[in-house]
Amino acid sequence: MKILVVGRGGREHTIVWKIAQSPLVEKIYWVPGNLGTSEIAECRSISLEDNFAELADFAEAEKIDLTIVGPEDPLANGLIDILRERGLRAFGPDRKAAILEASKDFAKRLMVKNGIPTAVHRTFDEPDSAIAYLKEIDRPVFVKADGLAAGKGAIPGRTLDEAIQAVQHIMVDRAFGGAGDKVVIEELLVGEEASFTVLTDGTHCLPFVSSQDHKPALDGDRGKNTGGMGAYSPAPVITPELHEQVMDTIVYPAVRGMQAEGRPFQGVLYVGLMITETGPKVVEFNCRFGDPETQVLLPRMASDLVPLLEACIDGTLDEVVCDWKPEPAVCVVMASGGYPDSYETGKPITGLERANALESVVVFHAATKVQNGDILTDGGRILGVTALAGDIRSAIEQAYRGVAEIHFDKAHFRRDIGHRALDREL
Ligand code: AMP
Ligand code: GLY
Repeated sequence: MKILVVGRGGREHTIVWKIAQSPLVEKIYWVPGNLGTSEIAECRSISLEDNFAELADFAEAEKIDLTIVGPEDPLANGLIDILRERGLRAFGPDRKAAILEASKDFAKRLMVKNGIPTAVHRTFDEPDSAIAYLKEIDRPVFVKADGLAAGKGAIPGRTLDEAIQAVQHIMVDRAFGGAGDKVVIEELLVGEEASFTVLTDGTHCLPFVSSQDHKPALDGDRGKNTGGMGAYSPAPVITPELHEQVMDTIVYPAVRGMQAEGRPFQGVLYVGLMITETGPKVVEFNCRFGDPETQVLLPRMASDLVPLLEACIDGTLDEVVCDWKPEPAVCVVMASGGYPDSYETGKPITGLERANALESVVVFHAATKVQNGDILTDGGRILGVTALAGDIRSAIEQAYRGVAEIHFDKAHFRRDIGHRALDREL
């Protein structure tokens, strides 16, 4: 098979790394590509502008057997629809289904309609009534831009002032452009978060093992929220009982609900969960693999990923099984100093080979480039150093052994990835 992977981050490097191990795969193209995959995939710089015409032409000319789309933006903008119109096979939700992530208001309405547990919310399309509501309830909230905002559109409003500022930031300052035409204001949920990843063909569901992200920039979950500073799998907070509860009260109702809306959802359904005192509640739905959760999920997958993705497209997900390695996995993200605020790029990176040579360590590239033979930093999140080991403690130690080998100026990483799993062992 010839496979085309779309996207540029650590998640996509992990997908390429995983499918490169499949005996079904002869050739992998990656658009736009990143250094991490240069040896296992051919990177092509193809524009995603102009309704994806150049990409669709390329896929058609190269007779691509399967296109895998990593990030939410091309999904929300209808890349899958365009490829399917050309008779090409593509994995991911179409534009109508990707609205589950692209509009928080839509997701909330779907949840309310289908009795899916989530934070109580209200949606507003102008700031004055949003602010009047905040004054009326005067309690801690989350204020969220309705549309896609690169993971930055959810702002805590722990005090009334903070919440009003968030509304102004989103709706008046238009910090996220048109994504802030509406805001969703919801109650602040308290509990432990977990990421629940499911493949679905629109009817059947195949849940992955659990994982947990670490969103805040600094140790002890302090600092600003980022795209994710590390992840581990499994997340012990998801007990077998909770797993069943999440499938029954959240995943199946969401999949059936999307079908009932005339928006059958095919692809990855990522459920961001808060495990509250009264049970699991949905914080967000995403329509694609998590980043950096993918960096710990796919290394634990013993089965070939490609037939699973094909079964999603064919509606035969009930006919496949997925085996998992028992070993836990940990991924520590190394970022540019200053991230998620401003940071410098172009810093030379050393020690990658030594880190990759360590037993069961893989370094996934998120933002690197080559210049005159040197490997340089090229963004906020640079690398994801992942390790698998017999238990969570050893996996953490091994991942940090990998991190210790790697150097670049002002490198920033959290030193407490996996702390919740360790705390549970005490
Ligand atoms: P979102 O953009 O909806 O994924 O939210 C980003 C992050 O903000 C989540 O991963 C949570 O850590 C946090 N968050 C979002 N909504 C809530 C909420 N209602 N209560 C508590 N934390 C939340
Ligand atoms: N790690 C969170 C996300 O991918 O949205």
